[in-house]
Amino acid sequence: MPRKFRETKIVIASHNEGKVTEIADLLIPLGISIVTSRDINLPEPEETGTSFIENAELKARIAAKLSGLPAIADDSGLCISALGGAPGIYSARWSGENKNFDLAMERVANALLMSGQYDRKASFHCALSLGWPDGKNESVEGILTGQIIWPARGNKGFGYDPMFVPDGYTETFGEMDPNKKHAISHRAIAYDKLIKKCFQK
Ligand code: IMP
Repeated sequence: MPRKFRETKIVIASHNEGKVTEIADLLIPLGISIVTSRDINLPEPEETGTSFIENAELKARIAAKLSGLPAIADDSGLCISALGGAPGIYSARWSGENKNFDLAMERVANALLMSGQYDRKASFHCALSLGWPDGKNESVEGILTGQIIWPARGNKGFGYDPMFVPDGYTETFGEMDPNKKHAISHRAIAYDKLIKKCFQK
């Protein structure tokens, strides 16, 4: 049986404002009070895991241990079949020091060209982990499959959105209305799984 969240307060283990807002939007309607890593001066741990789940777990576990409160963390990225799953857990790092995603998308397009393969299958992944101060974690992963296109299209999203067309659609995430993206995304799938697993009776 998965462990249920029975507490009233949680740490959002992220220094990324965008992630904090998204996770807070999800938890506030459940009547949970929220603090962030930044609010309580928690360090940003190094992501040394070898999978999205491992990275989300280590971030949640460290924040829970240091704060004495349950903590929630996420880790996400884009996996491309013809590149053996790259950039994967290194998706943010492919954008360099300046977090330049035009550059990251160009790196992906060049790597695909160099691979000589025609396969353009890809998937966005989002791992979410809820950790408790006693070291216990509950984790889930949301995966959304699609195709890589080049040149990239649209400027509505972030990261690799302009080069990803989800299966069953013709527009890229960069062209899609954000509400439509948020309803079908890897993050929506993961959130839904975690709510069902740990926050509902
Ligand atoms: P991290 O979870 O902070 O390690 O970073 C995940 C990276 O994956 C982000 O910097 C984005 O480049 C990429 N990524 C994750 N989710 C999305 C998405 O929904 N759209 C576009 N890029 C994403």
